[in-house]
Amino acid sequence: MSQIEAKPVFQPNKEFSKTARIKNMCEYKALQDAATEDYEGFWGGYAKEKLDWIEPFTNTLDESNFPFVKWFGGGKLNVSAQCIDRHLEFRKNKAAIIFEGDRGDKQVITYLDLYYKVNKFANLLKEDFGVKKGDRVVIYMPMIPEAAYAMLACARIGAIHSIVFGGFSSEALKDRIEDAEAKVVITADGAYRKDKPYMLKPVVDAAIDANSPVKKVLVIERNNEDVTWVAGRDYSYNELIKSKSGKCEPEVMDAEDPLFLLYTSGSTGKPKGVQHNSAGYILWAQMTMEWVFDVKENDTYWCTADVGWITGHTYIVYGPLAMGATTVMFEGVITHPDAGRPWKMVEEHKINQFYTAPTAIRVLHKMGEHEPLKYDLSSLKVLGTVGEPIDPPAWKWYYEAIGGSKCAIVDTYWQTETGGHIVSPIPGATPIKPACATFPLPGIMAEILDENGEKSPVGEKGLMCVTRPWPSMIRGVWGDEKRFVKSYFGDVKKDGKPVYFTGDGAVYDADGYITITGRTDDVINVSGHRMGTAEVEAAIKKHPNVAEVAVVGKPHEIKGEGIFAYVVLKSDSGVADEVEEVKAINKVIQKEIGNIALCDDMVFTSGLPKTRSGKIMRRILRSIAKGEEITQDISTLEDPSIVEKIVNMLRK
Ligand code: WT7
Repeated sequence: MSQIEAKPVFQPNKEFSKTARIKNMCEYKALQDAATEDYEGFWGGYAKEKLDWIEPFTNTLDESNFPFVKWFGGGKLNVSAQCIDRHLEFRKNKAAIIFEGDRGDKQVITYLDLYYKVNKFANLLKEDFGVKKGDRVVIYMPMIPEAAYAMLACARIGAIHSIVFGGFSSEALKDRIEDAEAKVVITADGAYRKDKPYMLKPVVDAAIDANSPVKKVLVIERNNEDVTWVAGRDYSYNELIKSKSGKCEPEVMDAEDPLFLLYTSGSTGKPKGVQHNSAGYILWAQMTMEWVFDVKENDTYWCTADVGWITGHTYIVYGPLAMGATTVMFEGVITHPDAGRPWKMVEEHKINQFYTAPTAIRVLHKMGEHEPLKYDLSSLKVLGTVGEPIDPPAWKWYYEAIGGSKCAIVDTYWQTETGGHIVSPIPGATPIKPACATFPLPGIMAEILDENGEKSPVGEKGLMCVTRPWPSMIRGVWGDEKRFVKSYFGDVKKDGKPVYFTGDGAVYDADGYITITGRTDDVINVSGHRMGTAEVEAAIKKHPNVAEVAVVGKPHEIKGEGIFAYVVLKSDSGVADEVEEVKAINKVIQKEIGNIALCDDMVFTSGLPKTRSGKIMRRILRSIAKGEEITQDISTLEDPSIVEKIVNMLRK
């Protein structure tokens, strides 16, 4: 058995625990036991208590067609009504969204404001664009409140939104538009970043050609820079919205009607459209907000993610609004004008829960170690992290310098496919260990299994799985049932039955704590964003001089993982200047995917280590990239000498 290091334990803050929703480990265990004893009773109970049903559900869980499961069958509801209408009775004047722009401009949007904004937006989509229930709408937007209105307006009329992160290129946007067969794109002229305008509309223009399924483009004017308008296709939101009624009846949706698609990278092929449906998703978004962040009625909660990623969906928009919380939306860059920006915002808005990614913590630490001292951070109660394993030094700085050694750190483990947190500390209950996701949340049957489906022994790395379907589980890969089954339910079986496998490795310590060790597949995690090596390779291969390429992840001080590419050029390419060639290849990546996929390292080699059957041995390439000694058996390679050649080349 391999030894794992014993980690120190930090007890929850006693004052905090007193009023927490889950106050201690006994309460946590009681909930987990209740779910184990009566799984459907547990979930059915919460679904009745937490959601407003237009028609009650009659069948809590239908697993007969596993993994195509159905939760809350017969139930009817509308997610936008969950997030807005039901709060109007007691919270109509409460801030729903507090917006802070890049240049410090602020807006407070109350629940009543939000109601009118979303209703008008919904009427616009229906009346002017003919958007109907089930239609797909792509949202390509900056971090402005209109992004949230757009999402909720789609939910209100039953349209399925698919947000594409604003950093993706026109090619990437085009692929996602086409895969989803979206008929409308909602975008902005652009927005502001570091005090300067930047543009989005031109990227949308480049993504739509004559064959595009997109017939209408709605443009929110944010920075008022010049854009080109295509007559009959492009419309100004600011103009159209003026004449819209503030009342739009929410569409009656089935519990399992799709709510949104979100494209994410897999280990092979093109990105997959992860599908989330209505009731199960919104239930777990709300419950995890309540349990994991323990947001109270008068609290102000801030998650720094972008709406282009799942964190922005569940923990900026849907979760906080479903529970009636105040959520902060930030357009800017956290290190601008200096690395004290977030702490200044914490002081000014008296933020109580702050949720960010390890890469952001590392950058804020590195660029502004002493910045937190300049601000009053005493309002903070819970600090969250998400997206990748956090390293102990970053954890320590977060805990001490930001949290004043009194805030719980919730290291929330989840993924696009899980809809919400699945393994995470509970701030008033769980004694935390640095850089450790701790335990499955109540109701989530998460287990580390070995390849035979047996529970992994303490200290031995296994596969992070969930053995029963849960309400916010992915419902499908858009347009590809086979890929859905194969990607998530193909690898691990427990008692002969397939279980959900996350793609991550994990390990139990002697106290049963779960530490996530990272992806076990060819997916790399760059600054908390998932990137398929296959996608980056496909982009690089588009450069005419490239014969072959292999991409691996390499540890990176700030980003967690960086992208390392081994490129074999065509023998007749006649490349003389390697520096220029790297630039040219990166340009192709920029065009195909976007800046987030640019390579940190690129080396030109004469070949790649392959097995006799032609499979590239990425494991060896990962070791070489890290500068590790090669201990693997390379005798089975087609040409073992290639390894030495690459190693020698990199030494130079
Ligand atoms: C992958 C999911 C979940 C929202 C943001 C990313 C990694 C996520 C943690 C954590 C260690 C983590 C996993 C996972 N990951 N949270 N707390 N500790 N690793 O969503 O793009 O779907 O990526 O992020 O590898 O599979 P995503």
